[in-house]
Amino acid sequence: MKIMTVVGARPNFMKAAPIIAAIRKYNQAVAKAGAELTHQAPVPSIDHILVHTGQHYDVLMSDSFFADLNLSPPDIRLGVGSASHAVQTAEILKGFEAVLLRERPDVVVVVGDVNSTVACALVTAKIAFDLAGTRPLLAHVESGLRSFDRAMPEEVNRVVTDHISDLLFVTEESGIQNLRNEGISPRAIHFVGNTMIDSLLVFKERAESSSILERLGLRAQAGGNGEGSPIEHYALLTLHRPSNVDNRDTFLDILSGLKELAEDCPIIFPAHPRTQQRIMEFGTELRLEINETRIKEDARDSRSRQGGIILTEPLGYLDFLCMMKHATLVITDSGGIQEETTCLGIPCVTVRENTERPVTLERGTNIVAGTTKEKIANAIQRQLGRKDGCRMPEKWDGQAATRILDVLISAYNERIVSPQSVISQSCA
Ligand code: UD1
Repeated sequence: MKIMTVVGARPNFMKAAPIIAAIRKYNQAVAKAGAELTHQAPVPSIDHILVHTGQHYDVLMSDSFFADLNLSPPDIRLGVGSASHAVQTAEILKGFEAVLLRERPDVVVVVGDVNSTVACALVTAKIAFDLAGTRPLLAHVESGLRSFDRAMPEEVNRVVTDHISDLLFVTEESGIQNLRNEGISPRAIHFVGNTMIDSLLVFKERAESSSILERLGLRAQAGGNGEGSPIEHYALLTLHRPSNVDNRDTFLDILSGLKELAEDCPIIFPAHPRTQQRIMEFGTELRLEINETRIKEDARDSRSRQGGIILTEPLGYLDFLCMMKHATLVITDSGGIQEETTCLGIPCVTVRENTERPVTLERGTNIVAGTTKEKIANAIQRQLGRKDGCRMPEKWDGQAATRILDVLISAYNERIVSPQSVISQSCA
Protein backbone atom coordinates (compact mmCIF):
# COMPACT_ATOMS: atom_id res chain seq x y z
CA MET A 1 0.00 0.00 0.00
CA LYS A 2 1.38 3.37 -1.00
CA ILE A 3 0.13 6.47 0.82
CA MET A 4 0.93 10.00 -0.33
CA THR A 5 0.41 12.85 2.13
CA VAL A 6 0.27 16.44 0.91
CA VAL A 7 1.31 19.53 2.87
CA GLY A 8 1.66 23.08 1.62
CA ALA A 9 1.11 25.78 4.21
CA ARG A 10 2.00 26.34 7.86
CA PRO A 11 -1.20 24.94 9.40
CA ASN A 12 -0.81 21.69 7.46
CA PHE A 13 2.41 20.51 9.05
CA MET A 14 1.12 19.79 12.57
CA LYS A 15 -1.97 18.09 11.13
CA ALA A 16 0.03 15.75 8.88
CA ALA A 17 2.87 14.92 11.30
CA PRO A 18 0.86 12.48 13.50
CA ILE A 19 -0.34 10.55 10.43
CA ILE A 20 3.24 10.13 9.25
CA ALA A 21 4.26 9.06 12.77
CA ALA A 22 1.41 6.50 12.86
CA ILE A 23 2.59 5.02 9.55
CA ARG A 24 6.15 4.80 10.90
CA LYS A 25 4.87 3.04 14.03
CA TYR A 26 2.77 0.65 11.95
CA ASN A 27 5.79 -0.25 9.80
CA GLN A 28 7.90 -0.89 12.89
CA ALA A 29 5.20 -3.22 14.26
CA VAL A 30 4.94 -4.99 10.92
CA ALA A 31 8.75 -5.44 10.76
CA LYS A 32 8.81 -6.81 14.32
CA ALA A 33 5.93 -9.20 13.63
CA GLY A 34 7.58 -10.27 10.36
CA ALA A 35 10.79 -11.16 12.11
CA GLU A 36 8.86 -13.46 14.45
CA LEU A 37 6.88 -15.21 11.72
CA THR A 38 8.13 -18.48 10.32
CA HIS A 39 5.30 -20.03 8.29
CA GLN A 40 2.89 -17.22 7.40
CA ALA A 41 3.38 -14.62 4.69
CA PRO A 42 4.48 -11.32 6.28
CA VAL A 43 2.10 -8.34 6.31
CA PRO A 44 3.42 -5.74 3.83
CA SER A 45 4.62 -2.43 5.19
CA ILE A 46 3.23 0.91 4.00
CA ASP A 47 5.17 2.97 1.50
CA HIS A 48 4.85 6.66 2.36
CA ILE A 49 5.60 9.72 0.25
CA LEU A 50 5.43 13.28 1.58
CA VAL A 51 4.74 16.00 -0.98
CA HIS A 52 5.26 19.70 -0.12
CA THR A 53 3.64 22.06 -2.61
CA GLY A 54 5.73 25.03 -1.44
CA GLN A 55 2.69 27.30 -0.86
CA HIS A 56 4.61 28.43 2.22
CA TYR A 57 8.35 28.48 1.69
CA ASP A 58 10.05 30.81 4.21
CA VAL A 59 12.19 29.13 6.85
CA LEU A 60 9.93 30.58 9.55
CA MET A 61 6.71 29.49 7.79
CA SER A 62 7.85 26.01 6.76
CA ASP A 63 11.34 24.54 7.47
CA SER A 64 11.31 25.39 11.17
CA PHE A 65 8.12 23.35 11.54
CA PHE A 66 9.75 20.28 10.01
CA ALA A 67 12.53 20.57 12.58
CA ASP A 68 10.19 21.14 15.56
CA LEU A 69 7.80 18.35 14.58
CA ASN A 70 10.61 15.83 13.85
CA LEU A 71 9.41 15.53 10.27
CA SER A 72 11.77 14.15 7.64
CA PRO A 73 12.24 16.50 4.70
CA PRO A 74 9.59 16.17 1.98
CA ASP A 75 10.24 13.47 -0.64
CA ILE A 76 8.88 15.71 -3.37
CA ARG A 77 8.72 19.51 -3.54
CA LEU A 78 6.58 21.35 -6.08
CA GLY A 79 8.01 24.75 -5.17
CA VAL A 80 4.96 26.73 -6.28
CA GLY A 81 5.42 29.76 -4.00
CA SER A 82 3.08 32.72 -3.65
CA ALA A 83 0.74 34.04 -6.32
CA SER A 84 -2.93 34.88 -6.82
CA HIS A 85 -5.31 32.10 -5.82
CA ALA A 86 -5.87 31.13 -9.46
CA VAL A 87 -2.19 31.05 -10.38
CA GLN A 88 -1.10 29.30 -7.18
CA THR A 89 -3.85 26.67 -7.55
CA ALA A 90 -3.07 26.16 -11.23
CA GLU A 91 0.65 25.66 -10.53
CA ILE A 92 -0.19 23.02 -7.91
CA LEU A 93 -2.64 21.28 -10.28
CA LYS A 94 0.03 21.00 -12.97
CA GLY A 95 2.83 19.93 -10.67
CA PHE A 96 0.80 17.45 -8.66
CA GLU A 97 -0.66 15.71 -11.72
CA ALA A 98 2.86 14.84 -12.88
CA VAL A 99 3.71 13.54 -9.41
CA LEU A 100 0.61 11.33 -9.24
CA LEU A 101 1.16 9.85 -12.69
CA ARG A 102 4.75 9.03 -11.78
CA GLU A 103 4.21 7.69 -8.26
CA ARG A 104 0.74 6.12 -8.62
CA PRO A 105 -0.12 5.99 -4.91
CA ASP A 106 -3.07 3.96 -3.61
CA VAL A 107 -4.21 6.70 -1.24
CA VAL A 108 -3.76 10.49 -1.23
CA VAL A 109 -4.23 12.26 2.10
CA VAL A 110 -4.95 15.99 2.09
CA VAL A 111 -5.33 17.99 5.30
CA GLY A 112 -7.06 21.23 6.29
CA ASP A 113 -8.48 23.89 3.98
CA VAL A 114 -5.67 25.73 2.21
CA ASN A 115 -5.23 26.12 -1.54
CA SER A 116 -2.84 23.15 -1.61
CA THR A 117 -5.59 20.98 -0.08
CA VAL A 118 -8.21 21.69 -2.70
CA ALA A 119 -5.77 21.67 -5.61
CA CYS A 120 -4.30 18.25 -4.82
CA ALA A 121 -7.76 16.88 -4.05
CA LEU A 122 -9.01 17.99 -7.46
CA VAL A 123 -6.12 16.33 -9.27
CA THR A 124 -6.61 13.08 -7.33
CA ALA A 125 -10.35 12.97 -7.94
CA LYS A 126 -9.89 13.37 -11.72
CA ILE A 127 -6.76 11.37 -12.46
CA ALA A 128 -6.88 8.07 -14.34
CA PHE A 129 -3.91 5.68 -14.18
CA ASP A 130 -5.40 3.41 -16.87
CA LEU A 131 -8.32 3.02 -19.24
CA ALA A 132 -10.42 1.61 -16.41
CA GLY A 133 -10.07 4.95 -14.63
CA THR A 134 -8.11 3.62 -11.66
CA ARG A 135 -7.19 6.40 -9.28
CA PRO A 136 -6.07 6.71 -5.65
CA LEU A 137 -8.53 6.88 -2.79
CA LEU A 138 -8.81 10.48 -1.65
CA ALA A 139 -8.87 11.11 2.10
CA HIS A 140 -9.62 14.52 3.62
CA VAL A 141 -8.45 15.14 7.17
CA GLU A 142 -10.39 17.89 9.01
CA SER A 143 -13.50 17.42 6.97
CA GLY A 144 -16.97 18.90 7.51
CA LEU A 145 -16.04 22.22 9.15
CA ARG A 146 -18.26 25.05 7.89
CA SER A 147 -18.27 28.79 8.59
CA PHE A 148 -21.17 29.18 6.09
CA ASP A 149 -19.29 32.19 4.75
CA ARG A 150 -18.36 31.65 1.12
CA ALA A 151 -16.38 34.90 1.12
CA MET A 152 -13.68 32.96 2.99
CA PRO A 153 -11.37 31.23 0.52
CA GLU A 154 -10.97 28.40 3.02
CA GLU A 155 -14.73 27.73 3.05
CA VAL A 156 -14.72 27.22 -0.71
CA ASN A 157 -11.71 24.92 -0.34
CA ARG A 158 -13.47 22.90 2.38
CA VAL A 159 -16.72 22.43 0.49
CA VAL A 160 -15.05 21.42 -2.76
CA THR A 161 -12.57 19.06 -1.09
CA ASP A 162 -15.27 17.34 0.96
CA HIS A 163 -17.51 16.76 -2.03
CA ILE A 164 -14.83 15.01 -4.08
CA SER A 165 -13.24 12.96 -1.27
CA ASP A 166 -13.83 9.26 -0.69
CA LEU A 167 -12.96 9.21 3.00
CA LEU A 168 -13.90 12.17 5.20
CA PHE A 169 -12.21 12.41 8.58
CA VAL A 170 -14.08 14.67 10.98
CA THR A 171 -12.72 16.47 14.05
CA GLU A 172 -15.94 17.49 15.80
CA GLU A 173 -19.62 16.51 15.74
CA SER A 174 -20.77 19.60 13.85
CA GLY A 175 -18.74 18.25 10.93
CA ILE A 176 -20.80 15.05 10.77
CA GLN A 177 -24.06 17.01 10.68
CA ASN A 178 -22.77 19.46 8.07
CA LEU A 179 -21.68 16.66 5.76
CA ARG A 180 -24.97 14.79 6.19
CA ASN A 181 -26.91 17.99 5.49
CA GLU A 182 -24.97 18.28 2.24
CA GLY A 183 -25.97 14.77 1.20
CA ILE A 184 -22.69 12.95 1.78
CA SER A 185 -23.08 9.27 2.53
CA PRO A 186 -22.70 8.47 6.25
CA ARG A 187 -20.49 5.52 5.23
CA ALA A 188 -17.82 7.92 3.94
CA ILE A 189 -17.77 9.97 7.17
CA HIS A 190 -15.44 8.98 10.02
CA PHE A 191 -15.40 10.88 13.31
CA VAL A 192 -11.80 10.31 14.40
CA GLY A 193 -10.77 13.36 16.46
CA ASN A 194 -8.20 16.01 15.69
CA THR A 195 -4.67 15.32 14.43
CA MET A 196 -3.58 18.87 15.28
CA ILE A 197 -4.44 18.05 18.89
CA ASP A 198 -2.48 14.78 18.53
CA SER A 199 0.57 16.95 17.79
CA LEU A 200 -0.17 19.35 20.61
CA LEU A 201 -0.40 16.53 23.15
CA VAL A 202 2.89 15.04 21.95
CA PHE A 203 4.79 18.34 22.01
CA LYS A 204 3.15 20.13 24.93
CA GLU A 205 5.87 19.21 27.42
CA ARG A 206 8.72 19.60 24.94
CA ALA A 207 7.57 23.19 24.34
CA GLU A 208 8.73 23.96 27.88
CA SER A 209 12.33 23.72 26.65
CA SER A 210 11.72 26.73 24.37
CA SER A 211 13.61 29.86 25.40
CA ILE A 212 11.08 32.22 23.80
CA LEU A 213 9.84 33.65 27.12
CA GLU A 214 13.40 34.61 28.06
CA ARG A 215 14.11 35.96 24.56
CA LEU A 216 11.08 38.22 24.83
CA GLY A 217 11.98 39.28 28.36
CA LEU A 218 8.86 37.71 29.88
CA ARG A 219 10.84 35.47 32.22
CA ALA A 220 14.30 35.99 33.68
CA GLN A 221 17.04 33.99 31.94
CA ALA A 222 17.52 30.46 33.32
CA GLY A 223 20.77 29.78 35.15
CA GLY A 224 21.91 32.09 37.95
CA ASN A 225 18.75 32.80 39.84
CA GLY A 226 16.59 32.59 36.67
CA GLU A 227 15.53 28.96 37.21
CA GLY A 228 11.84 28.75 38.00
CA SER A 229 11.38 32.53 37.74
CA PRO A 230 7.80 33.76 37.46
CA ILE A 231 6.44 34.54 34.03
CA GLU A 232 5.07 38.03 33.37
CA HIS A 233 1.45 38.42 32.32
CA TYR A 234 1.15 38.84 28.59
CA ALA A 235 -1.40 38.36 25.81
CA LEU A 236 -0.67 36.73 22.46
CA LEU A 237 -2.02 38.09 19.18
CA THR A 238 -2.13 36.70 15.64
CA LEU A 239 -3.84 38.31 12.65
CA HIS A 240 -3.36 37.22 9.07
CA ARG A 241 -6.76 36.95 7.36
CA PRO A 242 -6.99 39.20 4.30
CA SER A 243 -10.41 40.41 5.54
CA ASN A 244 -8.73 41.71 8.73
CA VAL A 245 -5.36 43.01 7.60
CA ASP A 246 -5.75 43.99 3.93
CA ASN A 247 -8.03 46.93 4.72
CA ARG A 248 -6.29 49.75 6.58
CA ASP A 249 -9.37 50.94 8.51
CA THR A 250 -10.38 47.44 9.60
CA PHE A 251 -6.84 46.67 10.74
CA LEU A 252 -6.64 49.96 12.65
CA ASP A 253 -10.02 49.39 14.29
CA ILE A 254 -8.92 45.93 15.48
CA LEU A 255 -5.73 47.36 16.97
CA SER A 256 -7.76 50.12 18.69
CA GLY A 257 -9.88 47.41 20.33
CA LEU A 258 -6.70 46.13 21.98
CA LYS A 259 -5.63 49.49 23.44
CA GLU A 260 -6.97 48.99 26.96
CA LEU A 261 -5.43 45.53 27.23
CA ALA A 262 -2.10 46.85 25.93
CA GLU A 263 -2.01 49.36 28.79
CA ASP A 264 -2.09 46.49 31.30
CA CYS A 265 0.22 43.92 29.74
CA PRO A 266 2.37 43.42 26.68
CA ILE A 267 0.59 41.92 23.68
CA ILE A 268 3.05 39.78 21.77
CA PHE A 269 2.25 39.85 18.05
CA PRO A 270 4.13 37.31 15.89
CA ALA A 271 3.18 38.61 12.48
CA HIS A 272 2.57 36.56 9.32
CA PRO A 273 4.50 37.90 6.27
CA ARG A 274 1.26 39.30 4.79
CA THR A 275 0.56 41.20 8.02
CA GLN A 276 4.12 42.55 8.18
CA GLN A 277 3.76 43.75 4.62
CA ARG A 278 0.51 45.57 5.40
CA ILE A 279 2.02 47.21 8.49
CA MET A 280 4.79 48.59 6.27
CA GLU A 281 2.32 49.77 3.62
CA PHE A 282 -0.28 51.35 5.90
CA GLY A 283 2.14 53.82 7.43
CA THR A 284 2.68 55.75 10.58
CA GLU A 285 -0.81 55.81 12.07
CA LEU A 286 -0.94 52.04 12.17
CA ARG A 287 2.67 51.65 13.25
CA LEU A 288 2.01 53.96 16.19
CA GLU A 289 -0.50 51.43 17.51
CA ILE A 290 2.31 48.95 17.52
CA ASN A 291 5.60 49.46 19.32
CA GLU A 292 8.06 51.02 16.92
CA THR A 293 10.69 48.41 17.62
CA ARG A 294 10.53 45.26 15.52
CA ILE A 295 11.77 42.40 17.58
CA LYS A 296 13.77 39.71 15.92
CA GLU A 297 15.99 38.11 18.49
CA ASP A 298 16.17 39.68 21.89
CA ALA A 299 13.42 41.95 23.12
CA ARG A 300 14.54 42.59 26.64
CA ASP A 301 16.19 45.92 26.19
CA SER A 302 14.10 47.28 23.39
CA ARG A 303 10.64 47.77 24.81
CA SER A 304 8.89 49.26 27.74
CA ARG A 305 7.95 46.66 30.33
CA GLN A 306 4.43 48.01 30.92
CA GLY A 307 2.65 46.96 27.81
CA GLY A 308 2.13 47.83 24.20
CA ILE A 309 1.83 45.66 21.12
CA ILE A 310 5.16 43.97 20.51
CA LEU A 311 5.76 42.83 16.94
CA THR A 312 7.89 39.74 16.36
CA GLU A 313 8.76 37.54 13.39
CA PRO A 314 6.53 34.44 12.92
CA LEU A 315 7.37 31.88 15.61
CA GLY A 316 8.19 28.21 15.20
CA TYR A 317 5.86 25.47 16.46
CA LEU A 318 7.46 24.88 19.87
CA ASP A 319 8.01 28.58 20.58
CA PHE A 320 4.40 29.39 19.72
CA LEU A 321 3.08 26.46 21.76
CA CYS A 322 5.09 27.67 24.73
CA MET A 323 3.68 31.19 24.25
CA MET A 324 0.09 29.89 24.09
CA LYS A 325 0.51 27.73 27.19
CA HIS A 326 1.59 30.63 29.37
CA ALA A 327 -0.54 33.45 27.92
CA THR A 328 -3.21 35.17 29.99
CA LEU A 329 -5.26 35.53 26.84
CA VAL A 330 -4.95 34.75 23.12
CA ILE A 331 -6.48 36.99 20.45
CA THR A 332 -6.54 35.54 16.97
CA ASP A 333 -8.20 35.20 13.58
CA SER A 334 -6.71 31.74 13.00
CA GLY A 335 -8.83 28.59 12.87
CA GLY A 336 -6.39 26.18 14.47
CA ILE A 337 -5.47 28.43 17.40
CA GLN A 338 -9.12 28.37 18.54
CA GLU A 339 -8.74 24.59 18.90
CA GLU A 340 -5.29 24.66 20.49
CA THR A 341 -6.36 27.18 23.15
CA THR A 342 -9.43 25.05 23.87
CA CYS A 343 -7.17 22.06 24.48
CA LEU A 344 -4.83 24.13 26.67
CA GLY A 345 -7.69 25.82 28.57
CA ILE A 346 -6.45 29.33 27.68
CA PRO A 347 -9.12 32.00 27.03
CA CYS A 348 -9.33 32.92 23.35
CA VAL A 349 -10.94 35.90 21.60
CA THR A 350 -11.55 35.21 17.93
CA VAL A 351 -11.47 38.34 15.80
CA ARG A 352 -13.92 37.15 13.18
CA GLU A 353 -17.67 37.20 12.58
CA ASN A 354 -18.01 33.42 12.66
CA THR A 355 -16.20 30.18 13.36
CA GLU A 356 -16.23 26.87 11.53
CA ARG A 357 -15.21 25.24 14.83
CA PRO A 358 -18.31 25.62 17.07
CA VAL A 359 -17.08 23.01 19.54
CA THR A 360 -14.50 25.58 20.74
CA LEU A 361 -17.42 27.83 21.80
CA GLU A 362 -19.62 25.08 23.26
CA ARG A 363 -16.96 23.22 25.19
CA GLY A 364 -13.82 25.27 24.93
CA THR A 365 -12.48 28.63 25.98
CA ASN A 366 -13.22 30.55 22.78
CA ILE A 367 -15.57 33.42 22.01
CA VAL A 368 -16.22 34.97 18.61
CA ALA A 369 -15.90 38.72 19.08
CA GLY A 370 -16.47 40.26 15.65
CA THR A 371 -14.02 42.75 14.18
CA THR A 372 -15.02 46.15 15.55
CA LYS A 373 -13.13 48.02 18.25
CA GLU A 374 -15.98 48.00 20.79
CA LYS A 375 -16.83 44.34 20.36
CA ILE A 376 -13.19 43.27 20.66
CA ALA A 377 -12.62 45.37 23.79
CA ASN A 378 -15.81 43.97 25.32
CA ALA A 379 -14.88 40.36 24.50
CA ILE A 380 -11.44 40.84 26.05
CA GLN A 381 -12.97 42.09 29.30
CA ARG A 382 -15.36 39.12 29.38
CA GLN A 383 -12.56 36.66 28.79
CA LEU A 384 -10.29 38.25 31.41
CA GLY A 385 -13.05 37.76 33.98
CA ARG A 386 -13.77 34.23 32.83
CA LYS A 387 -14.22 31.69 35.61
CA ASP A 388 -15.39 28.50 33.92
CA GLY A 389 -12.92 26.05 32.46
CA CYS A 390 -13.44 23.84 29.46
CA ARG A 391 -14.42 20.27 28.71
CA MET A 392 -12.20 18.55 26.20
CA PRO A 393 -14.09 17.91 22.95
CA GLU A 394 -14.87 14.29 22.22
CA LYS A 395 -12.01 12.21 20.77
CA TRP A 396 -9.40 14.96 21.19
CA ASP A 397 -7.31 12.36 22.93
CA GLY A 398 -4.15 12.05 20.86
CA GLN A 399 -5.38 9.00 18.91
CA ALA A 400 -6.88 10.61 15.80
CA ALA A 401 -4.03 9.62 13.48
CA THR A 402 -4.15 5.98 14.58
CA ARG A 403 -7.90 5.90 13.91
CA ILE A 404 -7.32 7.45 10.48
CA LEU A 405 -4.67 4.89 9.55
CA ASP A 406 -6.98 2.03 10.60
CA VAL A 407 -9.69 3.35 8.28
CA LEU A 408 -7.22 3.87 5.41
CA ILE A 409 -5.96 0.30 5.69
CA SER A 410 -9.51 -1.14 5.81
CA ALA A 411 -10.65 0.98 2.87
CA TYR A 412 -7.60 -0.06 0.84
CA ASN A 413 -8.15 -3.75 1.62
CA GLU A 414 -11.83 -3.46 0.78
CA ARG A 415 -10.96 -1.82 -2.51
CA ILE A 416 -8.54 -4.58 -3.44
CA VAL A 417 -11.44 -7.02 -3.06
CA SER A 418 -14.01 -4.82 -4.77
CA PRO A 419 -12.29 -2.03 -6.77
CA GLN A 420 -15.18 0.45 -7.02
CA SER A 421 -16.73 -0.15 -3.61
CA VAL A 422 -15.13 2.66 -1.70
CA ILE A 423 -15.37 5.28 -4.40
CA SER A 424 -19.08 4.62 -4.88
CA GLN A 425 -19.74 5.16 -1.16
CA SER A 426 -19.15 8.87 -1.29
CA CYS A 427 -21.51 9.20 -4.26
CA ALA A 428 -24.30 7.11 -2.70
C1 UD1 B 1 -2.76 30.48 3.94
C2 UD1 B 1 -4.15 29.82 3.92
C3 UD1 B 1 -4.87 30.14 5.21
C4 UD1 B 1 -4.03 29.80 6.41
C5 UD1 B 1 -2.70 30.52 6.30
C6 UD1 B 1 -1.79 30.21 7.47
C7 UD1 B 1 -5.17 29.65 1.70
C8 UD1 B 1 -6.25 30.19 0.83
N1 UD1 B 1 -4.97 30.33 2.83
O1 UD1 B 1 -3.00 31.88 3.93
O2 UD1 B 1 -6.05 29.37 5.26
O3 UD1 B 1 -4.71 30.20 7.57
O4 UD1 B 1 -2.07 30.09 5.10
O5 UD1 B 1 -0.62 30.97 7.42
O6 UD1 B 1 -4.56 28.67 1.37
N2 UD1 B 1 4.31 34.60 2.24
C9 UD1 B 1 5.63 34.70 2.53
N3 UD1 B 1 6.30 33.57 2.88
C10 UD1 B 1 5.69 32.36 2.91
C11 UD1 B 1 4.34 32.28 2.59
C12 UD1 B 1 3.65 33.41 2.27
O7 UD1 B 1 6.22 35.78 2.50
O8 UD1 B 1 6.36 31.35 3.24
C13 UD1 B 1 3.55 35.82 1.90
C14 UD1 B 1 3.45 36.08 0.43
O9 UD1 B 1 3.58 37.44 0.22
C15 UD1 B 1 2.03 35.67 0.10
C16 UD1 B 1 1.27 35.92 1.38
O10 UD1 B 1 2.23 35.70 2.42
O11 UD1 B 1 1.50 36.36 -0.99
C17 UD1 B 1 0.11 35.03 1.59
O12 UD1 B 1 0.45 33.65 1.48
P1 UD1 B 1 -0.64 32.59 0.94
O13 UD1 B 1 -0.10 31.23 0.99
O14 UD1 B 1 -1.20 33.05 -0.36
O15 UD1 B 1 -1.84 32.71 1.96
P2 UD1 B 1 -1.85 32.90 3.54
O16 UD1 B 1 -2.40 34.24 3.81
O17 UD1 B 1 -0.57 32.52 4.15
